[in-house]
Amino acid sequence: MLTRRHFLKVSAALGAIGGFLPARSLLAGVLGGRSRPGADSRRPLVISTWKQGVAANEAAWNVLSGGGSALGAVEAGVMVPEADPEIMSVGYGGLPDEECRVTLDACIMGPDGNAGSVAFVQGYKHPISVARKVMEETDHVMIVGAGAAEFARKHGFPKEELLTEEARKRWLEWKASMSDRDDWLPPEEDHDTIGMVALDGSGDLAGACTTSGLAFKIHGRVGDSPIIGSGMYVDNEVGAAAATGRGEAVIKTCGSFLVVELMRQGLSPQKACKKALERIIKKSGGRPEFQVAYIAVNRDGEIGALSLQKGFQYALGEESGNRLMDSEYLL
Ligand code: GLY
Repeated sequence: MLTRRHFLKVSAALGAIGGFLPARSLLAGVLGGRSRPGADSRRPLVISTWKQGVAANEAAWNVLSGGGSALGAVEAGVMVPEADPEIMSVGYGGLPDEECRVTLDACIMGPDGNAGSVAFVQGYKHPISVARKVMEETDHVMIVGAGAAEFARKHGFPKEELLTEEARKRWLEWKASMSDRDDWLPPEEDHDTIGMVALDGSGDLAGACTTSGLAFKIHGRVGDSPIIGSGMYVDNEVGAAAATGRGEAVIKTCGSFLVVELMRQGLSPQKACKKALERIIKKSGGRPEFQVAYIAVNRDGEIGALSLQKGFQYALGEESGNRLMDSEYLL
């Protein structure tokens, strides 16, 4: 008899060979095409963006495997890269803006549809936890800038210097390389936001997204990551999605909301990610050179991950283990 543990191992092996392979397809293949949402749903599970997602998933998995909630898992998960100075696109150690200030964006959303967000916040290492406070302690959704920092201070978060020596050096190099021909377009550089979505053992979904945003951005620039429906979105009746990459393109297409709405219309998470990326291609009038990627999960634990350009990786954590996968890509 094929145990759940066994076929999850099969899925891990196939996934490692073939990149993305939807869990539901595997279930259908292994179990002879049976599709039975709920009972054989693949849960709990957690997906997050980029290599940094592996360590983040571990922390999330500690919550999920102990019977904890998806909401607790995604917060605990993304706090790991937020605190890691070697990850220069999130939290402490994130690359600063053009004025050499580290400004952070984050949002979180739970299965009850409640959401919290902070943007352009300075001096607080864990914007995701500040966003959760906004969600749970207020009837607001989004607090920005000095107001967000003041809100964090009043709720007991420690104020810290987030600019590391390495990030300061990178800023100096960037500054030294500027010329009068520079424009406001971003440098060719990954800005590896962490987005995370999780499905817990009770079948509830949650998501989180946190970033220092585009390196050397204009002071005050806010990307997609703190915007509910752009950087991340959850609908507990349908699924959850998160984005990484060029935030402006995601904002203009309400990216994560679009992925969830496409799943609501019956598309698999993978097909929903594809359609949402095709929308970006269409709106950008051709073949964009920037990167955008989506990760998604539906209520049955079927997953999706897709990027515009080659090179996107995502981490998938589930009962059979936690592994980094190369994403399929469109261009
Ligand atoms: N996706 C992160 C940003 O554009 O800021």
